[in-house]
Amino acid sequence: MIASAPGKVILFGEHAVVYDRPALAVPVKQVKAEVEVKEASHRGIWITATQIGLHAELSALAVDHPIGAVIREVFQRAGRSPSASLDIHISSTIPPASGLGSGAAVSVALVRALAGQISHPISDAQVNDLVFEIEKLHHGTPSGIDNTVITYAAPVYFTRGKPIETFRVDKPFTLVIGDTGVRAPTRKSVGDVRATWEKDRNRIEKMFDGIGEIVLQARRFIESGKPEQLGELMNRNHVLLRDLTVSSPELDRLVDAACRAGASGAKLSGGGRGGNMIALVEEENSQTIAKALMSAGARSTIITTVS
Ligand code: PMV
Repeated sequence: MIASAPGKVILFGEHAVVYDRPALAVPVKQVKAEVEVKEASHRGIWITATQIGLHAELSALAVDHPIGAVIREVFQRAGRSPSASLDIHISSTIPPASGLGSGAAVSVALVRALAGQISHPISDAQVNDLVFEIEKLHHGTPSGIDNTVITYAAPVYFTRGKPIETFRVDKPFTLVIGDTGVRAPTRKSVGDVRATWEKDRNRIEKMFDGIGEIVLQARRFIESGKPEQLGELMNRNHVLLRDLTVSSPELDRLVDAACRAGASGAKLSGGGRGGNMIALVEEENSQTIAKALMSAGARSTIITTVS
């Protein structure tokens, strides 16, 4: 049984979304996690994920290991003990710890492949719920946006604890995604924002309100066929994220480079401190802007159209 799941980018609203403001995210289908589960002739459940140097039997994984936890949860929710003879192969083209949802994508693909293999029917809502539990191991206090956009593989307008809303993209628009190559765990930036919020709630809450306003305006522009207006909102969102201390010199350099090369706006995307940024571009300029990002130090770029 094989299953895959896409990466994602957050268009607007990261960090503030942890504090109940809305955020917009879209899947990125150019990158994906893939999981294959097969019957094996040996005993036990062996997991191989070459990219992270993992080759181990399930019982050797710590209880809080996200991959082991997914497997145990699937068996538990199916009302079975994890005593099968299986080989599980995990691979991914989504760079880890870089804001593209690699952890959630591996979890979603793993849940679907394993549930399929053991003939346990599982709905999207159940996948989403299970992967949210696993995201807590990755992130500490995740909002749930990553598991939602990746489970449903559709644009989402997400507010914590509210029913899932997808949004309509009236006119397609193009993004260039640039990877700083700096791996930055979301748990750390989320924790640092929390510490600042605890010290200075009024100021930080106002910044979250500002980000929430940007998200509402962005949704209106996307739904009314005015995506060219998003650039200015990206610039404002980036400044607010920088003030929250979650940008980095590498992210700022790529954001500047994209704008100087003709992008109409750019911002970091995801947890920040490293990882990826996004730039709003005209499709015909996308290659030029991708090249400018590489010259400014990007490790790689992805051009994607949101539709
Ligand atoms: O997984 P990342 O790096 O895309 O970050 C998720 C976005 C945050 O808002 C920073 C955290 C969260 O759980 O929503």
